[in-house]
Amino acid sequence: MPAPRTVLLTGAAGGMGTLMRELLPAYGYQLRLLDQLPIEGEPDAITADLSDRDALREAVRDVDAIIHLAGISLEAPFEKILRANIEGTYNLYEAAREAGVRRVVFASSNHAVGFTPRPAETPVPGASLIPLDTPRRPDTFYGLSKSFGEDLASLYWDKHGIETVAIRIGSCFPEPTTVRMLSIWMSPADGARLLHAALTAENVGYTMVYGSSANTRLWWDLSSARALGYEPRDDSEPYAAKLIAEQGELDPDNPDHAYLGGAFCTNPPIWPR
Ligand SMILES: NC(=O)c1ccc[n+]([C@@H]2O[C@H](COP(=O)([O-])OP(=O)(O)OC[C@H]3O[C@@H](n4cnc5c(N)ncnc54)[C@H](O)[C@@H]3O)[C@@H](O)[C@H]2O)c1
Repeated sequence: MPAPRTVLLTGAAGGMGTLMRELLPAYGYQLRLLDQLPIEGEPDAITADLSDRDALREAVRDVDAIIHLAGISLEAPFEKILRANIEGTYNLYEAAREAGVRRVVFASSNHAVGFTPRPAETPVPGASLIPLDTPRRPDTFYGLSKSFGEDLASLYWDKHGIETVAIRIGSCFPEPTTVRMLSIWMSPADGARLLHAALTAENVGYTMVYGSSANTRLWWDLSSARALGYEPRDDSEPYAAKLIAEQGELDPDNPDHAYLGGAFCTNPPIWPR
Protein backbone atom coordinates (compact mmCIF):
# COMPACT_ATOMS: atom_id res chain seq x y z
CA MET A 1 0.00 0.00 0.00
CA PRO A 2 1.47 3.43 -0.85
CA ALA A 3 1.89 5.65 2.21
CA PRO A 4 -1.36 7.55 2.81
CA ARG A 5 -1.19 11.27 2.28
CA THR A 6 -4.72 12.65 2.45
CA VAL A 7 -6.35 11.54 5.66
CA LEU A 8 -9.83 12.28 6.95
CA LEU A 9 -9.69 13.09 10.67
CA THR A 10 -13.13 12.78 12.30
CA GLY A 11 -13.68 14.31 15.72
CA ALA A 12 -11.17 16.99 14.79
CA ALA A 13 -12.67 19.56 17.18
CA GLY A 14 -12.24 17.28 20.21
CA GLY A 15 -9.44 17.00 22.72
CA MET A 16 -7.45 14.38 20.90
CA GLY A 17 -8.44 15.71 17.48
CA THR A 18 -7.02 19.11 18.40
CA LEU A 19 -3.75 17.56 19.59
CA MET A 20 -3.45 15.39 16.47
CA ARG A 21 -4.27 18.30 14.13
CA GLU A 22 -1.17 19.96 15.51
CA LEU A 23 1.12 16.91 15.47
CA LEU A 24 0.25 14.86 12.38
CA PRO A 25 1.09 17.37 9.61
CA ALA A 26 4.78 17.00 10.58
CA TYR A 27 4.53 13.40 9.31
CA GLY A 28 3.52 14.70 5.90
CA TYR A 29 -0.23 14.20 6.06
CA GLN A 30 -2.80 16.47 4.47
CA LEU A 31 -5.65 16.35 6.95
CA ARG A 32 -9.27 16.78 5.98
CA LEU A 33 -11.13 17.68 9.16
CA LEU A 34 -14.65 16.69 10.16
CA ASP A 35 -16.64 17.31 13.31
CA GLN A 36 -20.22 18.10 14.27
CA LEU A 37 -18.86 21.33 15.71
CA PRO A 38 -17.22 24.10 13.69
CA ILE A 39 -13.48 24.41 14.28
CA GLU A 40 -12.12 27.86 14.90
CA GLY A 41 -9.44 28.89 12.44
CA GLU A 42 -10.24 25.96 10.11
CA PRO A 43 -12.64 27.34 7.49
CA ASP A 44 -12.24 24.24 5.29
CA ALA A 45 -13.23 21.80 8.03
CA ILE A 46 -16.40 19.84 7.28
CA THR A 47 -19.10 20.48 9.85
CA ALA A 48 -21.29 17.39 9.77
CA ASP A 49 -22.85 14.83 12.04
CA LEU A 50 -22.03 11.15 11.64
CA SER A 51 -25.72 10.57 10.89
CA ASP A 52 -25.42 12.62 7.69
CA ARG A 53 -24.59 9.93 5.13
CA ASP A 54 -24.38 12.34 2.20
CA ALA A 55 -21.86 14.49 4.04
CA LEU A 56 -19.81 11.39 4.93
CA ARG A 57 -19.78 10.28 1.27
CA GLU A 58 -18.42 13.69 0.35
CA ALA A 59 -15.92 13.67 3.23
CA VAL A 60 -14.31 10.33 2.29
CA ARG A 61 -14.00 11.11 -1.42
CA ASP A 62 -10.36 10.72 -2.55
CA VAL A 63 -8.90 10.22 0.91
CA ASP A 64 -6.20 7.57 1.36
CA ALA A 65 -7.20 6.71 4.92
CA ILE A 66 -9.45 7.71 7.80
CA ILE A 67 -8.68 8.34 11.45
CA HIS A 68 -12.01 7.94 13.22
CA LEU A 69 -12.05 9.80 16.52
CA ALA A 70 -15.57 11.29 16.38
CA GLY A 71 -18.15 10.11 18.84
CA ILE A 72 -19.32 10.40 22.40
CA SER A 73 -16.24 9.83 24.53
CA LEU A 74 -17.87 9.23 27.93
CA GLU A 75 -20.85 7.30 29.24
CA ALA A 76 -24.21 8.60 27.98
CA PRO A 77 -27.78 7.35 27.56
CA PHE A 78 -27.91 4.34 25.28
CA GLU A 79 -29.94 6.14 22.58
CA LYS A 80 -27.25 8.79 22.21
CA ILE A 81 -24.43 6.24 22.13
CA LEU A 82 -26.41 4.24 19.58
CA ARG A 83 -26.76 7.20 17.24
CA ALA A 84 -23.28 8.69 17.47
CA ASN A 85 -20.98 5.74 18.15
CA ILE A 86 -22.75 2.68 16.78
CA GLU A 87 -24.78 3.97 13.82
CA GLY A 88 -22.26 6.76 13.21
CA THR A 89 -19.35 4.35 12.92
CA TYR A 90 -21.41 2.09 10.66
CA ASN A 91 -22.27 5.08 8.44
CA LEU A 92 -18.60 5.99 8.16
CA TYR A 93 -17.50 2.45 7.25
CA GLU A 94 -20.25 2.26 4.64
CA ALA A 95 -19.07 5.53 3.11
CA ALA A 96 -15.49 4.18 3.17
CA ARG A 97 -16.58 0.96 1.47
CA GLU A 98 -18.47 2.78 -1.27
CA ALA A 99 -15.53 5.10 -1.91
CA GLY A 100 -12.91 2.33 -1.84
CA VAL A 101 -10.95 3.71 1.13
CA ARG A 102 -8.40 1.03 2.10
CA ARG A 103 -7.44 1.87 5.68
CA VAL A 104 -9.17 3.11 8.83
CA VAL A 105 -7.66 3.79 12.23
CA PHE A 106 -10.43 3.41 14.77
CA ALA A 107 -10.31 5.04 18.20
CA SER A 108 -11.41 2.22 20.46
CA SER A 109 -10.98 2.41 24.20
CA ASN A 110 -9.75 0.66 27.31
CA HIS A 111 -13.45 0.71 28.28
CA ALA A 112 -14.16 -2.05 25.74
CA VAL A 113 -12.34 -4.28 28.24
CA GLY A 114 -12.93 -2.07 31.28
CA PHE A 115 -14.01 -4.87 33.61
CA THR A 116 -10.67 -6.63 33.19
CA PRO A 117 -9.03 -6.75 36.64
CA ARG A 118 -6.06 -4.47 36.65
CA PRO A 119 -2.70 -6.15 37.09
CA ALA A 120 -1.56 -6.37 40.72
CA GLU A 121 0.67 -3.77 42.25
CA THR A 122 2.72 -1.98 39.68
CA PRO A 123 5.49 -1.48 38.90
CA VAL A 124 6.48 -5.08 39.50
CA PRO A 125 9.25 -6.39 37.28
CA GLY A 126 7.79 -9.12 35.12
CA ALA A 127 4.22 -8.55 36.36
CA SER A 128 1.78 -10.08 33.92
CA LEU A 129 0.26 -7.56 31.57
CA ILE A 130 -3.31 -7.57 30.23
CA PRO A 131 -2.94 -9.70 27.10
CA LEU A 132 -4.07 -8.85 23.59
CA ASP A 133 -6.65 -11.65 23.63
CA THR A 134 -8.29 -10.72 26.90
CA PRO A 135 -12.07 -11.20 26.56
CA ARG A 136 -14.20 -8.15 25.92
CA ARG A 137 -15.65 -6.82 29.14
CA PRO A 138 -17.23 -3.43 28.38
CA ASP A 139 -17.82 -1.30 31.45
CA THR A 140 -20.45 1.09 30.04
CA PHE A 141 -22.71 1.59 27.02
CA TYR A 142 -19.79 3.67 25.79
CA GLY A 143 -17.40 0.72 26.14
CA LEU A 144 -19.99 -1.49 24.47
CA SER A 145 -20.03 0.86 21.46
CA LYS A 146 -16.24 0.55 21.17
CA SER A 147 -16.57 -3.22 21.31
CA PHE A 148 -19.11 -2.93 18.46
CA GLY A 149 -16.74 -0.70 16.50
CA GLU A 150 -13.96 -3.28 16.80
CA ASP A 151 -16.24 -6.04 15.50
CA LEU A 152 -17.57 -3.82 12.72
CA ALA A 153 -13.99 -3.14 11.64
CA SER A 154 -13.22 -6.86 11.72
CA LEU A 155 -16.28 -7.54 9.54
CA TYR A 156 -15.32 -4.88 7.01
CA TRP A 157 -11.85 -6.40 6.73
CA ASP A 158 -13.05 -9.97 6.27
CA LYS A 159 -15.91 -9.07 3.98
CA HIS A 160 -14.79 -5.97 2.13
CA GLY A 161 -11.00 -5.84 2.51
CA ILE A 162 -10.93 -2.53 4.38
CA GLU A 163 -8.01 -2.66 6.79
CA THR A 164 -8.36 -1.29 10.31
CA VAL A 165 -6.07 -0.72 13.21
CA ALA A 166 -8.29 -0.42 16.29
CA ILE A 167 -6.48 1.37 19.09
CA ARG A 168 -7.74 0.77 22.61
CA ILE A 169 -6.64 4.16 23.81
CA GLY A 170 -5.78 4.52 27.47
CA SER A 171 -5.69 8.25 28.30
CA CYS A 172 -4.40 10.65 25.70
CA PHE A 173 -4.01 14.01 27.37
CA PRO A 174 -1.08 16.41 27.69
CA GLU A 175 -0.36 15.03 31.19
CA PRO A 176 -1.68 12.19 33.36
CA THR A 177 -3.98 13.59 36.06
CA THR A 178 -4.76 10.48 38.13
CA VAL A 179 -2.78 7.60 39.60
CA ARG A 180 -4.71 5.19 37.33
CA MET A 181 -3.64 7.19 34.29
CA LEU A 182 0.02 6.58 35.17
CA SER A 183 -0.51 3.04 33.84
CA ILE A 184 -2.43 3.83 30.63
CA TRP A 185 -1.30 7.33 29.68
CA MET A 186 -0.43 7.98 26.05
CA SER A 187 1.45 11.23 25.58
CA PRO A 188 0.19 13.26 22.61
CA ALA A 189 3.55 12.78 20.87
CA ASP A 190 3.32 9.00 21.32
CA GLY A 191 -0.31 9.20 20.14
CA ALA A 192 0.85 10.78 16.90
CA ARG A 193 3.62 8.15 16.59
CA LEU A 194 1.09 5.36 17.03
CA LEU A 195 -1.36 6.87 14.52
CA HIS A 196 1.46 7.24 12.02
CA ALA A 197 2.48 3.60 12.54
CA ALA A 198 -1.16 2.50 12.19
CA LEU A 199 -1.49 4.44 8.92
CA THR A 200 1.72 3.18 7.35
CA ALA A 201 2.35 -0.42 8.51
CA GLU A 202 1.91 -2.97 5.73
CA ASN A 203 -0.75 -5.66 5.71
CA VAL A 204 -2.48 -4.92 8.99
CA GLY A 205 -5.74 -6.62 8.03
CA TYR A 206 -7.71 -6.15 11.20
CA THR A 207 -5.35 -5.45 14.10
CA MET A 208 -6.15 -4.44 17.66
CA VAL A 209 -3.51 -2.62 19.68
CA TYR A 210 -3.41 -1.03 23.10
CA GLY A 211 -2.57 2.65 22.95
CA SER A 212 -0.25 4.07 25.57
CA SER A 213 3.24 5.31 26.19
CA ALA A 214 5.98 3.02 27.54
CA ASN A 215 4.91 3.68 31.11
CA THR A 216 6.89 2.20 34.00
CA ARG A 217 3.53 1.20 35.55
CA LEU A 218 2.17 -0.18 32.27
CA TRP A 219 -0.87 -2.49 32.59
CA TRP A 220 -1.11 -3.94 29.10
CA ASP A 221 0.76 -5.62 26.29
CA LEU A 222 2.11 -3.18 23.69
CA SER A 223 3.52 -5.90 21.42
CA SER A 224 0.93 -5.60 18.63
CA ALA A 225 1.46 -1.81 18.58
CA ARG A 226 5.23 -2.29 18.43
CA ALA A 227 4.76 -4.80 15.61
CA LEU A 228 3.32 -1.93 13.54
CA GLY A 229 6.58 -0.05 14.00
CA TYR A 230 5.39 2.02 16.98
CA GLU A 231 8.22 3.02 19.27
CA PRO A 232 6.88 4.93 22.25
CA ARG A 233 9.31 7.42 23.72
CA ASP A 234 7.44 8.71 26.75
CA ASP A 235 6.78 7.39 30.25
CA SER A 236 4.36 8.78 32.85
CA GLU A 237 6.78 8.08 35.71
CA PRO A 238 8.00 11.68 36.15
CA TYR A 239 4.41 12.54 37.17
CA ALA A 240 4.08 9.64 39.64
CA ALA A 241 5.46 11.11 42.87
CA LYS A 242 3.24 14.20 42.75
CA LEU A 243 0.05 12.31 41.82
CA ILE A 244 0.61 9.62 44.47
CA ALA A 245 1.33 12.26 47.12
CA GLU A 246 -1.95 13.98 46.23
CA GLN A 247 -4.18 10.95 45.66
CA GLY A 248 -2.49 8.00 47.37
CA GLU A 249 -1.65 4.64 45.80
CA LEU A 250 -4.42 2.64 44.15
CA ASP A 251 -6.34 0.72 46.83
CA PRO A 252 -7.20 -2.89 45.91
CA ASP A 253 -10.26 -2.71 48.22
CA ASN A 254 -11.69 0.31 46.42
CA PRO A 255 -13.95 -0.88 43.57
CA ASP A 256 -13.03 2.23 41.55
CA HIS A 257 -9.44 0.97 41.52
CA ALA A 258 -10.03 -2.74 40.93
CA TYR A 259 -10.47 -2.75 37.17
CA LEU A 260 -8.81 -1.38 34.07
CA GLY A 261 -11.82 0.88 33.42
CA GLY A 262 -11.54 2.62 36.81
CA ALA A 263 -14.60 4.53 37.95
CA PHE A 264 -16.44 3.78 34.69
CA CYS A 265 -17.02 0.33 36.23
CA THR A 266 -18.84 1.69 39.25
CA ASN A 267 -20.74 4.59 37.68
CA PRO A 268 -24.45 3.89 37.75
CA PRO A 269 -25.86 3.38 34.26
CA ILE A 270 -27.31 6.50 32.68
CA TRP A 271 -30.83 5.85 31.45
CA PRO A 272 -32.67 7.97 28.88
CA ARG A 273 -34.72 10.83 30.22
N1 LIG B 1 -8.78 10.98 24.94
C1 LIG B 1 -8.65 9.78 25.47
O1 LIG B 1 -7.90 9.58 26.40
C2 LIG B 1 -9.44 8.62 24.90
C3 LIG B 1 -9.39 7.39 25.56
C4 LIG B 1 -10.07 6.30 25.01
C5 LIG B 1 -10.75 6.45 23.82
N2 LIG B 1 -10.81 7.69 23.24
C6 LIG B 1 -11.58 7.84 22.01
O2 LIG B 1 -10.86 8.67 21.12
C7 LIG B 1 -11.74 9.56 20.44
C8 LIG B 1 -11.35 11.00 20.70
O3 LIG B 1 -11.39 11.24 22.10
P1 LIG B 1 -11.43 12.72 22.67
O4 LIG B 1 -10.91 12.66 24.05
O5 LIG B 1 -10.81 13.67 21.71
O6 LIG B 1 -12.99 12.98 22.74
P2 LIG B 1 -13.77 14.38 22.63
O7 LIG B 1 -15.10 14.16 23.28
O8 LIG B 1 -12.92 15.49 23.15
O9 LIG B 1 -13.95 14.58 21.07
C9 LIG B 1 -14.88 13.87 20.30
C10 LIG B 1 -15.30 14.74 19.15
O10 LIG B 1 -16.28 14.02 18.37
C11 LIG B 1 -17.28 14.92 17.97
N3 LIG B 1 -18.53 14.19 17.79
C12 LIG B 1 -19.26 13.56 18.74
N4 LIG B 1 -20.37 13.03 18.20
C13 LIG B 1 -20.33 13.32 16.88
C14 LIG B 1 -21.21 13.05 15.79
N5 LIG B 1 -22.34 12.36 15.98
N6 LIG B 1 -20.87 13.49 14.58
C15 LIG B 1 -19.71 14.21 14.38
N7 LIG B 1 -18.85 14.50 15.38
C16 LIG B 1 -19.16 14.05 16.61
C17 LIG B 1 -17.39 15.93 19.11
O11 LIG B 1 -17.96 17.15 18.67
C18 LIG B 1 -15.96 16.05 19.56
O12 LIG B 1 -15.31 17.15 18.94
C19 LIG B 1 -13.15 9.22 20.93
O13 LIG B 1 -13.73 8.29 20.03
C20 LIG B 1 -12.90 8.54 22.26
O14 LIG B 1 -13.94 7.64 22.59
C21 LIG B 1 -10.16 8.77 23.74
